[in-house]
Amino acid sequence: MVVEANAESPPQALMERLKDYGQEDAFALWDELSPRERQLLVDDIESLDLPRVDRIIRCSLRSQGLPVAAVEPVPESDVSAAEGRTMEERERWWKMGLKAISDGKLAVLLLSGGQGTRLGSSDPKGCFNIGLPSGKSLFQIQAERILCVQKLAVQALREGSVGSPQIHWYIMTSPFTDEPTRKYFESHKYFGLEAEQITFFQQGTMPCVSKDGRFIMETPYRVAKAPDGNGGVYTALKTSKLLEDMASRGIKYLDCYGVDNALVRVADPTFLGYFMDKGVDAAAKVVRKAYPQEKVGVFVRRGKGGPLTVVEYNELDPTLASAINQETGRLRFCWSNVCLHMFTLDFLNQVANGLEKDSIYHLAEKKIASIHGQTAGLKLEQFIFDAFPYAPSTALFEVLRDEEFAPVKNANGSNFDTPDSARLLVLRLHTRWVVAAGGFVTHSVPLYATGVEVSPLCSYAGENLEAICRGRTFHAPCEIAF
Ligand code: UTP
Repeated sequence: MVVEANAESPPQALMERLKDYGQEDAFALWDELSPRERQLLVDDIESLDLPRVDRIIRCSLRSQGLPVAAVEPVPESDVSAAEGRTMEERERWWKMGLKAISDGKLAVLLLSGGQGTRLGSSDPKGCFNIGLPSGKSLFQIQAERILCVQKLAVQALREGSVGSPQIHWYIMTSPFTDEPTRKYFESHKYFGLEAEQITFFQQGTMPCVSKDGRFIMETPYRVAKAPDGNGGVYTALKTSKLLEDMASRGIKYLDCYGVDNALVRVADPTFLGYFMDKGVDAAAKVVRKAYPQEKVGVFVRRGKGGPLTVVEYNELDPTLASAINQETGRLRFCWSNVCLHMFTLDFLNQVANGLEKDSIYHLAEKKIASIHGQTAGLKLEQFIFDAFPYAPSTALFEVLRDEEFAPVKNANGSNFDTPDSARLLVLRLHTRWVVAAGGFVTHSVPLYATGVEVSPLCSYAGENLEAICRGRTFHAPCEIAF
């Protein structure tokens, strides 16, 4: 129904509906609005699924502070620890993964709808240049890693069948990042990937609310909204009909990750092979928590033998956070979530239906831009890991922080997880690869502040570098490329 807003007072029926949900203040400034602004306000309210939004706000606020099952550590035996892996296992998983990729069974799912407020850039985070010698953005690094895995899969294919493996890349944006992301990819010619192998889709938004659940107005004629969290991906995949699209392409596995990790091993064949070998529905790469107070969520079991889930750092009792496992001498709650997941398509289908009905969202206290300036308010979000409790079987796969985790969260000048810290992590790792491949690195600033960068087009995880590096000297900082 189209509601025309040319009257002196707000449309009666819409006002009544808002009153039913205690949100009539959204029309508080009606008298001061121009006819055009009135129409914009009516359209904005009409675009909201009010019964659903109201249910989510009420259930989420009510669930705060309710008792939840006690947390239990994930047993060490449920985790594939890095130090326990044999060379034979690694090679087997690598080959299994590459074979499945050659068969077109893996797609990559990028979560890129966040607003990146802490980083403070007006562009989507993926466009960010962290200052590597190549000047490549996070998107370009990830695109080139996909190209590299495709090439490795072709090489693996030579020993078997024929074909040209293509890894489909699903990129989730939000209304805040969609247009600039698409334009960025287009203007960079998809970084060498085929345009048809990339599908952009948008996640939904939720109104931002005050602590008593009322809409915060961004302008007198628009409700403040924020993306519905990276767990909005499940509903977005369903509403965009992309689960069917994946099935029609023969995709069976989804490698799902956040945009803001400069060391992310996109489409990692080893992780895929491990996942297939375990035959589980959902898995996560984890890193060991660095110290008890580190601000990362950790995987736990909810109750004895209960489902696997993630507890955020501020939800974990400080005594539990620093508790030591007497047998291992390590933290009892040590498996940090770094937003690197693998799912079967079957499980994604199942969870998209389950989570859609879930009315309890996480409440994130944030500063919200409003008609009163920056106001303290709540964003309503689902998280990607909310799916784990629904999974009949799960697995955790430890990876080494200095090999796979270089987060880009905060602006330079902050104490941690900045573009500068991520750049140094990349340079250090790549320098080690080059030296291990027989290369030499010279430098005129201390090596801890510089290093060499290896183009993902040359090497995915340090392999195949001997031919380029052996006996050669590189002066840091520089990029090693073909
Ligand atoms: P973060 O919450 O760490 O980053 O999201 P952010 O939202 O971009 O930044 P801040 O919190 O505003 O500073 C982790 C990953 O989840 C994605 C982000 O793009 C990032 O890859 N994300 C986050 C979404 O895709 N959608 C969201 O609604 C939120």
